[in-house]
Parts: sequence; structure tokens; C-alpha cells
Amino acid sequence: MDLKDDKPRHEHNTLNFPEGFLWGAATSAFQTEGNARDSDWWHWEQIFQPPEKRSGRAADFYHHYPQDFKIARKLSHSAHRLSLEWSRIEPRNGEFNQAQIEHYQKMLKSLREKNMQVMLTLHHFSNPEWFAKLGGWTNSKSSFYFERFIKKIVPEIAPLVDFWVTINEPGIYAHSSFVAKQFPPQKKNWWLFIKALWNMSLAHKKAYKFIHSILPQAQVGIANGVVSFDIFHRHSILESLTQILADFFTNHLFYFFAPKKYHDFLGLNYYTNQYISFNGESRLPNLVDITKTKKEVSDLGWEIFPEGIFDIIMDFSDYHLPIYITENGIASTNDDRRVRFLLSYLHEIYHAIQTGAPVKGYFYWSLLDNMELYRGFGPKFGLIEVDFKTQKRTIRPSAYVYKEIIKENGIPHKLLKLLGHGIAVSDVLNELRQQ
Ligand code: BGC
Repeated sequence: MDLKDDKPRHEHNTLNFPEGFLWGAATSAFQTEGNARDSDWWHWEQIFQPPEKRSGRAADFYHHYPQDFKIARKLSHSAHRLSLEWSRIEPRNGEFNQAQIEHYQKMLKSLREKNMQVMLTLHHFSNPEWFAKLGGWTNSKSSFYFERFIKKIVPEIAPLVDFWVTINEPGIYAHSSFVAKQFPPQKKNWWLFIKALWNMSLAHKKAYKFIHSILPQAQVGIANGVVSFDIFHRHSILESLTQILADFFTNHLFYFFAPKKYHDFLGLNYYTNQYISFNGESRLPNLVDITKTKKEVSDLGWEIFPEGIFDIIMDFSDYHLPIYITENGIASTNDDRRVRFLLSYLHEIYHAIQTGAPVKGYFYWSLLDNMELYRGFGPKFGLIEVDFKTQKRTIRPSAYVYKEIIKENGIPHKLLKLLGHGIAVSDVLNELRQQ
């Protein structure tokens, strides 16, 4: 892409984001709502997960959403990304539950009433149990089942949605379910991975066409789980080639199956960077275990690597489509780290925009602490802390830092101070509020 001629930088001013930039947070139904008893995850958890890692009531978002959206609005969020739980809407093959459809209509309306833009994910990792029993996404009829669901639900909620994410992280989903043995059905079979990813690409194309047939102006895309890759040895051709392949298979394969004409925007979920290293003794696969280096990692062992989001955004700019950061966040019990994470990643996004990248919005993962998939409730991603016993919500200081950014539509220079360690968030926030 062309690099724009840069104006001189005034780093002491607010680092402004483009007008109309969307600011919000993301959630997913299964991880927050609780009691999704007709889903494959629920069934799997009862057998394979210890009790403390089962979703149970989760953050009881199913009942608490009015309060949670109210907090999000109070925190100045102008948009929210959330998902539908397919298994509630179609608990049995071909049988739709109208009461649950009305529930989601109410939920989406409550965002509308708060003047928040809605980005809706139609599939975020969990499936109805009946669908999983038929082989889930490896079944050659899976895209037909998904299309039938889309044809039912989309007309019911069409006026309440601004952005449609058909599928969350198809590549990560297919890999975690059919290769890495992390998500149900915990298989390890590359052929199933390819089948699932291919079927998801068919499902996406069908959904794309259907949504556009009833809403010609609709904005439809996916939320792609992306990873930046780096190498330890710049002279190593083997590492460089592996880097290219890892980047293609992780980040771009889905767009090869469902090309650009089926996407109105690119949704990017970026969390971390991975290193490839061949030291002469080791063989493929060769991703470095970053926790064994001295690099800074999150509570999940994921490297904190803000530059990676700049690199990823610049790379994806070549598709010439609007970009939304549909997820980015840190698992940490130390909220000061979340503040530094947020500022440093947004700083890089700012630089990518200055360089010419069409980034239009940012959704922090997550609004709430939630059930971190197969890892349970330990990892804390939320801007809002949730006590899972009492369901009490407590707003974390990082949420107020984010609020200042949203209010300014940019990063006030004073906040950049917080990138230094040991600087009290409350002092800087008070200083800003007094201005
Ligand atoms: C997923 C979320 C998940 C987050 C952190 C993303 O891959 O979309 O559902 O909670 O990463 O693991």
C-alpha cells in the first residue's frame, strides 16, 4: 500500500482517531449468558470439564444485559459486539423457539435505545447439540443448516443490527476443535479441520448472499482470529519460509476459500505474536514457548506485543476494505497491566491509521469477565469485574481510562504517562477530569 506523506507529529496533543470511529467492547453469548443447555459446549462440559470450569450461570448476562449495557453506555461506549446463541433459537433440528427470538430482539433493542451501534455475531464457537451430533461443521450439510438458521433469524432482527459477523474466528475454531483438542469435540485430524473450515466458508458465503438479498446496504464480514509471526534468526531461510506459511494458513486461508467479494469489512481479533525458531536441533512444528523467554506475557502466557497489531493492520490494508478490530484484550488480574495494554495497542492502531490504514472501530475483549472457554473462569479479561457467586459488577479503573479515550475520540497525551510502570491510574485520571 502507499505510505502517506506524514504531517509533522505533535505528540503533545491528543492522538486523534478518525471522526465516527466506533468504540466499544465485545462479548459472546456462550461465555457470558449462562445456562445454554442445548448447546454442544454445555453437553461436553458436563462430561469432560471439572465442575469449576463448567459455564453454569457464567456472568448471567442473559438476565443482566440491561444493567451491563447501561454501564457500557455510561462508560461512553458507542458500539457493542455481541453474539446469538444458536442453540437457544433452534434447540431442536428445524424447530425454532419464538420466545428466545423475542428475547434477542429485546436485547438488541436495548442497545438501539442507548444509541449504540450493534455488531452482531451469528456464530461464536458454540453449536446446538443436535447439530454437533450430526458431525457439526464437518457434516457436508452444515452450511445448509446454518443458512436455514440465518433465513429464520435475520429477518426477525434486521432493523436492529448495523454490522453482521457471520462467524467468529473460523480458523481458530476449526483448529481448536479438530486439531488441537481444546474445544469440543476435541479431535485431532487435519482432514476434519479442512472440511470444517471449507463448510464454514460455504456457510459464510450463503449468509452473505442472503443478508444482502434482504438488506442491500448491509455490512457483512467475519471476525478473523489473527496472529503476528516473527522469527528469531533473520538469516534463516527455513524460518522465513515457515513464517510465510504460518501467516497464510493462520491469517489468510479463509479469504482464499471465501474471497474478498464476500466481505464488506475485515474484522480482526488480535491478541498476540508468535515466534518461529529452528535452532538446528528442532523440527516442525516450531513455535517458541514464549513463557520460557524473558518477554512480557499475559496471565495466559500470550506475549504483550503492541507492534504486532500495527504489522497485522498494515498487512490486511492490502485488501482495501474497512477494518474493525473486533477483539483485542489482555487476561490479567492486575488492572494496571490492562491500562498499559490498552494504551500501547491503541497507540499502535493510531500509528497504523496515520500510515493510511482504514481502521474504523475498536472493540475491547471483553466488556465483562467471563467463562474463558475450556480454561474456565480464571483468566480475567473484563473492563468490568464480575463476582461469579453474587453476579456483582465492579467497574475496573481501566474502563475509566478507556472512557477518557472514547470521550476524546483519541488518546489524550496525559494518558500516555500511564505507559510508565508505577504511575497511579487514579492520579492521572483526576488530573484529566480537572481540566
Ligand atoms: C475468542 C474469544 C476468547 C478470546 C480469548 C478469542 O479467540 O473469540 O471467545 O474468549 O479469544 O481467548
